[in-house]
Amino acid sequence: MQLSVVILAAGQGKRMNSDLPKVLQPLAGRPLLEHVVRVARSLDPANVYVVYGHGGAEVQAALSQQPVEWILQAAQLGTGHAVMQAMCVIPDDHTVLVLYGDVPLIRCASLKQLVAAADGGALAILSVALDNATGYGRIVRNPDGEVSAIVEHKDATPDQLTIRELNSGLMAAPAGRLREWLLGLGSNNSQREYYLTDVVAGAVQAGDRVVAIVATHASEVMGVNDKIQLAQVETAHRRERAEELMLAGATLADPARIDIRGDIEVGRDVFIDVNVVLSGAVKLAAGVKIGPNCVISDSSIGAGSEVFANSIVERAMVAENCRIGPFARVRPETVLHRDVHIGNFVEVKASEIGAGSKANHLSYVGDASIGSGVHHHLQLRWPKQMADRDRRRRLHRIGQHAGRAGADRRRRHHRRRFDHLAGCPGGRADADPRPAGLRRHLEAAEETAKSLSRCDSRAAAAVDRQPG
Ligand code: UD1
Ligand code: MG
Repeated sequence: MQLSVVILAAGQGKRMNSDLPKVLQPLAGRPLLEHVVRVARSLDPANVYVVYGHGGAEVQAALSQQPVEWILQAAQLGTGHAVMQAMCVIPDDHTVLVLYGDVPLIRCASLKQLVAAADGGALAILSVALDNATGYGRIVRNPDGEVSAIVEHKDATPDQLTIRELNSGLMAAPAGRLREWLLGLGSNNSQREYYLTDVVAGAVQAGDRVVAIVATHASEVMGVNDKIQLAQVETAHRRERAEELMLAGATLADPARIDIRGDIEVGRDVFIDVNVVLSGAVKLAAGVKIGPNCVISDSSIGAGSEVFANSIVERAMVAENCRIGPFARVRPETVLHRDVHIGNFVEVKASEIGAGSKANHLSYVGDASIGSGVHHHLQLRWPKQMADRDRRRRLHRIGQHAGRAGADRRRRHHRRRFDHLAGCPGGRADADPRPAGLRRHLEAAEETAKSLSRCDSRAAAAVDRQPG
């Protein structure tokens, strides 16, 4: 039977106390509603309809990339009323699956069970057993144990409130039957709304079969109505994704301290330290190590590569055995070939760096194409050769040399440049960052030292001249 999915997303979400519509509140960096649309699409349905209303344009804009049909519910008169809007476009011979935009962790396997039961002609509702039942509809059974109704928390009697078999809100049914049950809905309840849940009593009355399928994981049916529940859902999501990574062979320093906000693929023996954020499409090949406090987004990192603490890698392709960081920033459109080293306080943007090249310290490499075996340096330091107290600064800039021979050539090049700068009167004055007072003081000290050494040499000469 053809499947039509209806996702309810028109509600305001008053309990959120937020300007952002509830279904756009972020879970793992994506709107709640996007999570639901993705799982709906995984069922390969004929259509996915999203019933929208509150914050309409904002909701549509946020999901503009998703292939869904939009159904307007101009006034939010309840979940039953919302489904009625979509039924205008769904043929009788389809199976309808109703999902909620605020129940984001639902899994494909449970939905398939619901759809299978509805394909067989029943009204299938997804239930769950939870200790904390606040806010959930209670599933009421008759003395024979058959489902007879769903009673909303706000409308339940004290006896009914003790029921721990709860309604997830999600259900599937043959479209023709659902249409008929919906026509029988009223709004005679505490919220003056048309409750979708009342179709259960309608189906029972019409002699139709109602089955309750228990969700395998309680987290699947967690509804998000306030910020506390949003945080609880985030925690549950984080734990589930961390478990997936561990089952795929990753070692996590602490599964509670990783944030996974996208589609992450890991190879064997990947190690991820604490406070790492992985977002978008991230691929970490076998043996990759990610240090603490790193953010990796939309990037692939080749086997054996290591990203050291406090580094950011964004939309980059990193080949095997590279070393990045600590404190490095690899920006979009960067390609690092194998064995590249990007060191501390190095920023690389839209550049391709050839195999074995290194930019180890304090550099910016932008829109560049650097060959292999290149060592890029931008350093300020006191060279060892200056230990004779000559405090003139030396500026090392960019060497493009391969291997050890290159390093020697680079040193010679810097020596020549230094000599040139030092021999040019005033040439270093502007570049000398020492305060003028300090400079004068050091120059005076130098003069004193020189005259003292002249005295010393005169004294030494006098000693030499003394008869033996
Ligand atoms: C609903 C169920 C309750 C279930 C709980 C599980 C009803 C009457 N109650 O209650 O049995 O235990 O979910 O999370 O269905 N919406 C619309 N249009 C409307 C009203 C709501 O599109 O007019 C959408 C909301 O945006 C939301 C979803 O329907 O995505 C559920 O609405 P909500 O108000 O959160 O219902 P609950 O009180 O949580
Ligand atoms: Mg809800």
